[in-house]
Amino acid sequence: MNGKKIALGSDHAAFPMKEEIKKWLTEQGYEVVDYGTNSEESVDYIDFIYPAAKSVAMKDTDLGIVFCGTGLGASYVANKVKGIRAALCQDEFSAKLSRQHNNANVLVLGGRILAPTRAISIVDLWLNTPFDGGRHQKRIDKISDIEKKECNIR
Ligand code: RB5
Repeated sequence: MNGKKIALGSDHAAFPMKEEIKKWLTEQGYEVVDYGTNSEESVDYIDFIYPAAKSVAMKDTDLGIVFCGTGLGASYVANKVKGIRAALCQDEFSAKLSRQHNNANVLVLGGRILAPTRAISIVDLWLNTPFDGGRHQKRIDKISDIEKKECNIR
């Protein structure tokens, strides 16, 4: 065990990728909380991404990794949850910077975009890159301010 609890959520389109990542995370000693889906039967990505992202926001898990075919729908959903900064990353550079500069707490991957080995390389880098803090914290605080204001809008 390396002590970190990772929430996973995906739809049918990314189910095989979620399973690959789950296996890799377990081998690395992470604790995985899998919010589904559990097969390639067609589902709505919203129903699986929302609980996974919510668990990160509620601090039931430390970080989340969510998936759909492109990663787009999953990123829309995760970023609706207060406190979530979900980064859709299709390359290592974005993955690294999403942690260093944006302190992303959810990684989003496209199961129909990335080869499994590439996805593992992105996940590995993302999990092992710390937040730089400093000037970036001020910017994240500004995002949180917007979140607070927007919560009052119907
Ligand atoms: C499912 O067909 C697909 O629309 C979904 O996985 C995702 O790519 C949506 O953004």
